[in-house]
Amino acid sequence: MFRKLTLAAVLAVSATSAAAESAAHIEDFDFSFEGPFGSFDQNQLQRGLKIYTEVCSACHGLELVAFRNLHDEGGPSLPADQTLAYAEGFEIYDESIEDYRAATPADKFPGSSLENAPDLSLMAKARAGFHGPYGTGLNQLFKGMGGPEYIASLMTGYEEAPECAPEDFDGQYNVAFAAGGYPDECKYENGDHKYPGSWIAMGQPLYGEDVDFDDGHSNDLHHEAEDVAAFLMWTAEPKMMARKQAGLTGVIFLIILSVLLYLTNKRLWAPHKNKD
Ligand code: HEC
Repeated sequence: MFRKLTLAAVLAVSATSAAAESAAHIEDFDFSFEGPFGSFDQNQLQRGLKIYTEVCSACHGLELVAFRNLHDEGGPSLPADQTLAYAEGFEIYDESIEDYRAATPADKFPGSSLENAPDLSLMAKARAGFHGPYGTGLNQLFKGMGGPEYIASLMTGYEEAPECAPEDFDGQYNVAFAAGGYPDECKYENGDHKYPGSWIAMGQPLYGEDVDFDDGHSNDLHHEAEDVAAFLMWTAEPKMMARKQAGLTGVIFLIILSVLLYLTNKRLWAPHKNKD
């Protein structure tokens, strides 16, 4: 009886999560920081920073990130002089002098300059690209939350709007964005959407070849999307490397401890064994 109930519950959950999945199209990008041994790629973070600076910062802020963090090990690791020069490129409002001044490494990035553009500091952790754990191949268990995959897919997800949509429908059609408006003309009678995604208020920000990289890395749309998503994963979890390392050290420590306990146990009981 109990078994049957849990099975029914699992099936119900899997049905709903499968429906949620089909509402948006998320691509599974391969990031260097995935898996227990993964780490941020410093060059990729620097490229992502450049894309953020030259494109996204026109509308989006990063108000939880301090400029000096760009210098931190495990992050973009800009040299100290470049970090200083980068900060000085921003103007911030200083309440103590009631005026604008050039930022210093101790300041934080400005907030969003466009009112309806959300701050991106924690965006990679605020959105999930994959859903699960049931019914969708245990997606989140194996692939993670998919925050950076979601952001990269959003960048590459702009497509020609389906023909059913009225020309003047607000926003741009994006197959990865599930939370936007959706024209009634593109719904089935039961309300289901005929096409994945929805209409987003952000115009397509990246087309490929938007920035040039000093390291000669490809700047096609796919790579730019990946780089800016990796950078936003770092802003959301700058200590990811330290966390993984601490976890790994813990596991190794526990393995050694287990072996020692096993040997101690054997030794302690040895004199009492094989005694009639
Ligand atoms: C011209 C202004 C503008 C630029 C430039 C811009 N965005 Fe946006 N962005 C917006 C607006 C407005 C929204 C809110 C869209 C909505 O909710 O419909 C948004 C939303 C987002 C979201 C949140 C989507 C969600 O799930 O709610 C992400 C992520 C994002 N932008 C990333 C970026 C990245 C990365 C760049 C740079 C490559 C960028 N944006 C450039 C205006 C902009």
